[in-house]
Amino acid sequence: MATRTPIRSKKAAAKPASRAAAKTPTSKNGASVKAASLTVTDNRTGKSYDIPINDGTVRAMDFRQIRVDSDDFGLMTYDPAFTNTASCRSAITYIDGEKGILEYRGYPIEQLAEKSTYLETAYLLVYGELPDATQLDQWTRDIKYSTMVHENIKKFIDGFNYDSHPMGMLIGTVGAFSTYYPDAKHIDDPASRELQTWRLIAKMPTIAAFAYRHSRGLPFVYPDNDLSFAGNFLNMLWKMSEAKYKPDPVLERAIEVLFILHADHEQNCSANAMRAVGSSRPDPFSATAAAAAALYGPLHGGANEEVLLMLEKIGDKKRIPEFIKKFKAGEGRLMGFGHRVYKNYDPRAKIIKRTAEEVFDLTGRNPLIDIAMELERIALEDEYFISRKLYPNVDFYSGIIYQALGFPVEMFPVLFAIPRTAGWIAQWREMITDPEQKIARPRQIYTGNRTRKYTPIGRRPRHDSAHDEANHQHRAVRLAPMPFASGKRAARTRF
Ligand code: ACO
Repeated sequence: MATRTPIRSKKAAAKPASRAAAKTPTSKNGASVKAASLTVTDNRTGKSYDIPINDGTVRAMDFRQIRVDSDDFGLMTYDPAFTNTASCRSAITYIDGEKGILEYRGYPIEQLAEKSTYLETAYLLVYGELPDATQLDQWTRDIKYSTMVHENIKKFIDGFNYDSHPMGMLIGTVGAFSTYYPDAKHIDDPASRELQTWRLIAKMPTIAAFAYRHSRGLPFVYPDNDLSFAGNFLNMLWKMSEAKYKPDPVLERAIEVLFILHADHEQNCSANAMRAVGSSRPDPFSATAAAAAALYGPLHGGANEEVLLMLEKIGDKKRIPEFIKKFKAGEGRLMGFGHRVYKNYDPRAKIIKRTAEEVFDLTGRNPLIDIAMELERIALEDEYFISRKLYPNVDFYSGIIYQALGFPVEMFPVLFAIPRTAGWIAQWREMITDPEQKIARPRQIYTGNRTRKYTPIGRRPRHDSAHDEANHQHRAVRLAPMPFASGKRAARTRF
């Protein structure tokens, strides 16, 4: 078969793949670097290719020109779980995982946690700059005027079982918002994007609080716009018969700090879900429901719930070595430890640890913090965790504060989703207006059968299937007598 000369093979003139490639390359500290390309030799054909390097990356599409012959599809890159693939350009959040640095729009997280409020930080994430006093005032008003939800949302939430996980209720309800705000599908209209931004940031605490009150059998509390964003959230959660709820300033500030710390974290699993789902251009409520679903998992925002369960299971400092041994043997993971990006102490975990002490002064010490701190000390001295650079992440201590504040563990991922909404929206807006982005659609390496002949059912040989096995196992469960309703979740999953 005839070989085609690749577009930018060494034999052809070395031409940059894009206009960006023509720029003089510079290293991180601004010094110019020698070559802005990667020379790749395909040993199958002996041909060499110059692949431009920009911003420390090569473009996967530049490898497509590398072919064995004209029938060849071209070389692809394989990166399950995106461990070394940048999916976008972003100016929102910067992380240096090796050094443990986190910045929103260039502002270190430590400064924001100390000096800012959640709404100011949300403005920064969404619009790129800190607001001046008038802008903050207007933004606060825009958000506050969007905190109410349609009365039918109450009925919608009432439809969930009393013991439904509040995160499930949140995901379902934020998805349902797309039916209440059909104008949200005009995603190319900047005015519509603005309105949905306010609505999403403002209504998440309302539905989160409604989900909580529903699970407690308590009446819903309407937003009180005299209060701060965090204060109003506490009001909707905990107001009883008093005429006006007054949040404790220490608890209010603790919630603000936790919200600031959780507001964004660049291309994590849920931000990636927001962008991937948003790339097919549905309304942002639908994309946010997908992002929240991604957050729900125990390897992401569900980890803080798992940390608490783990600490309760350990129960005593004396049992820590026994558990560490299990984690090292691959029997479960030390939840709240390790991170795809941080190979150092997560800066958010440090701030949360400090905030916890302030909360405990008011609420009394949560005994789990002593187990957590001892667990951290032992793990950080252990070769297994040292060699893998596993440090506490944001979720290691957050659950302990949430519990001290009186939240049940099921609320933990919900408390994460509320502030992360600002990050999701900022990521979504950046994606929608980025001319380089298209519908997210990865490639695959196909490993299955090809072009088989359909056999009529009577002539097919029998193959063991996972369905046979599953059916065998579940039949026993389905046929077992149904327990009486006694608060057991299993009682309603038999049909
Ligand atoms: N406990 C024990 N071992 C661990 C842990 C852990 N928490 N995390 C990673 N490891 C080990 C892995 O077994 C693996 O060991 P190996 O090289 O011998 O196979 C090695 O460290 C690398 O782990 P990966 O799974 O490849 O790391 P990855 O980047 O894919 O995963 C993750 C990151 C999911 C966060 C992982 O560290 C983990 O599961 N942590 C516990 C869950 C958690 O706390 N999640 C919250 C993350 S923060 C957030 O989403 C807000």
